[in-house]
Amino acid sequence: MSLIKSPLYNLLLRARMKKNKKKIIANIKMNGSLSFNEIYFNKIKKNFNNFENLNIGLCLPYPYLFQAKNFLEHTKICWGSQNVAKFESGPHTGEVSAPMLKDFGSKYVIVGHSERSTAYCESDENIAHKFEKIKKYNMTPVLCVGESLIEREAGIMERVVSSQIDAIVKINGAEVFEDSIIAYEPIWAIGSDTAASPAQVDKMCNFIKDHICKVFNGNFKNFSIIYGGSVNSKNAVQLFASESLDGVLVGRSSINIEEFFQICSTAENS
Ligand code: PGA
Repeated sequence: MSLIKSPLYNLLLRARMKKNKKKIIANIKMNGSLSFNEIYFNKIKKNFNNFENLNIGLCLPYPYLFQAKNFLEHTKICWGSQNVAKFESGPHTGEVSAPMLKDFGSKYVIVGHSERSTAYCESDENIAHKFEKIKKYNMTPVLCVGESLIEREAGIMERVVSSQIDAIVKINGAEVFEDSIIAYEPIWAIGSDTAASPAQVDKMCNFIKDHICKVFNGNFKNFSIIYGGSVNSKNAVQLFASESLDGVLVGRSSINIEEFFQICSTAENS
């Protein structure tokens, strides 16, 4: 049996991942306003800055990055965006580049979210180029991968997810996963009432870790797998019971500050 597939290897891998702080990334989507954010950022600053075991990131609509920088600079809370251009500058009307995001202190950039891939027909190749730009400007990509309901019912979810990961490797090489986050977000769980079960999440997180380890020959230091799709304060308790989970990507529940605080508290104490 190769070391990569052995139970001992999984144990060592988990021990190593456990050392990292849990990542709690809010996907604010197309929500907020200057006045809403002012209250929201102030509450985040006051109540979320004391979590010791978490890296918290707020992925915002572009226009509010400057406001986030003003409110959250010099706190432990990071911010970033939900997309980026695959180009760095030039005639690309309506696009926002990685260096522009960096100008506003962005740390996290969501890339490949299914709401974008579906609505704007984003190809795996485009996503890979965006991923490369995020890394080039020393930000952390939050790469969303996940299967549709039809694909899950057909039992091909692992094949779907591995091909999404392989598309990144094909263009950028495997090393880009160092200091990166992969968010397992099954499309059927996003914006629904049903999160994936802890067992489904656990199985897929382990699959992704094993897959990336094979690509890396088991040699990486800082890489996280988080789960997204209808995370709330109730299911967070079960989700964080899983050793394989390094954090969560929270959509709707991140807008509600009390709900978001509960999720963070659960992660902090898990
Ligand atoms: P949700 O969204 O938590 O509202 O399901 C998650 C996401 O789209 O990242």
